Amino acid sequence: MARHSGVRKRSTEARPAGKRPSAHTPRCATPESTAAQASRAPRVRGRRIAEQESKHARWVGELLSARRLPIPAEPDTARERYWKRTLPIISDLASGAAVGAHAERMRLWRIEAIVSDAQAPADVRAVFTRIVPEERFNERAFRSLSGEAVRHATLDGHEQGMQVLGLIP
Ligand SMILES: [Fe+2]
Repeated sequence: MARHSGVRKRSTEARPAGKRPSAHTPRCATPESTAAQASRAPRVRGRRIAEQESKHARWVGELLSARRLPIPAEPDTARERYWKRTLPIISDLASGAAVGAHAERMRLWRIEAIVSDAQAPADVRAVFTRIVPEERFNERAFRSLSGEAVRHATLDGHEQGMQVLGLIP
C-alpha cells in the first residue's frame, strides 16, 4: 500500500480563459457584498466617532473631578450656544457630517493649541494629548462623509456659532 507523501499535487487541467481569479478582488466579493459594505460604512464610522466622543467626555469629566471643578449635569440650553447655530442646519447624513466636520476642526485647533502650550498644566495637556489623534480621525471621517459643497453650505451657521463662542469678532 502506497503511503501518502503529504505533497499536494497541482491540477494539470487548464483553467478556462477569463476564469482566473483577480489578484485584487477577494474570491468571496460580489457586487452585493461590496454595496452592503459601502452602505454600512457610515454607520460603522458614526458608531466609532460616538464611542470616542463619549470617552473624551469621560476623560474631561475625570480631569474636572481631579481638579475639584464642577461638572455640569445638563448643558444650559437656554443660553446661546455654538450648537444652537449649527444643529438646525442638519437635514441629512451629509449636512450632519459637514456640521460635525466644522465643529471637529474648530476643536482640533483649540486642543492642538493646548497640547503644544508648554505653559499649560501637565494634567490638562496629558488628557488632550490622548484626545488629539482620535479627534483627527473624527474630523477626517466627518469630512469624508460630507462633501465640499455641503461643507460650504453649512459654513455660515458654523461661523455664527464661532461668534457665540467669541472665537471670531
Ligand atoms: Fe470631537
